[in-house]
Amino acid sequence: MRGKFITLEGMDGAGKSTHIPEIITALESRGFEVVNTREPGGTPLGEGLRRILLHEAMHPETEALLMFAARREHIAQVIEPALARGAYVVSDRFSDASFAYQGGGRGVTAEKLELLESWVHPDLQPDLTLLFDVPVEVSVQRLANARSPDKFEQESVAFFTKIRNAYLSRAAKSPERFRVINSNQPKDRVKQLLLDIVDTL
Ligand SMILES: Nc1ncnc2c1ncn2[C@@H]1O[C@H](COP(=O)(O)OP(=O)(O)OP(=O)(O)O)[C@@H](O)[C@H]1O
Ligand SMILES: [Mg+2]
Repeated sequence: MRGKFITLEGMDGAGKSTHIPEIITALESRGFEVVNTREPGGTPLGEGLRRILLHEAMHPETEALLMFAARREHIAQVIEPALARGAYVVSDRFSDASFAYQGGGRGVTAEKLELLESWVHPDLQPDLTLLFDVPVEVSVQRLANARSPDKFEQESVAFFTKIRNAYLSRAAKSPERFRVINSNQPKDRVKQLLLDIVDTL
């Protein structure tokens, strides 16, 4: 039986990495094989592109193309083989992040991103996308406490407001796939919300 593809999305500092181990533990305790991966990255080539993408300035469309190039390799090497053998794939970001960051944030048109999406994964969409949603000020504050910023994290509040809005409008277009998680509440509450959703898979 084919596995399931679960993606985590949301702004920097929204809480994705914090809660991934809990999701994985919950799925493994039910006996599933779980593949924990991330974007950009997930393969040696993808991790190489990640280092460039997170630290070097480039044209917005170059950024979009490299994101989808890394994604093509990720799907071929990791995601599809895992789903085919029945594993659950949990990915920290996937194409919705391109629509939010390169689209909403950098202004690459939806038409171009949809073209890349239909090229790179015409028949694949996540079975479930957990969108971690927090007010921009909260995510900025959390990151300021947590670590030194990468290229994206150095952007302005205006940029992150566009990211958040792009994510929410993408979620509104595919309500059957998305669950929007209010992650502006204590971690224990967020964890419980997530476990309740994962239990239904
Ligand atoms: N519900 C919460 N309440 C308070 N702090 C939180 C909460 N969730 C996460 N944090 C803190 O916010 C910081 C960022 O969280 P995390 O690294 O999980 O975000 P992320 O969504 O993975 O961000 P990025 O996209 O940049 O990787 C961490 O220091 C984490 O401990
Ligand atoms: Mg993270």
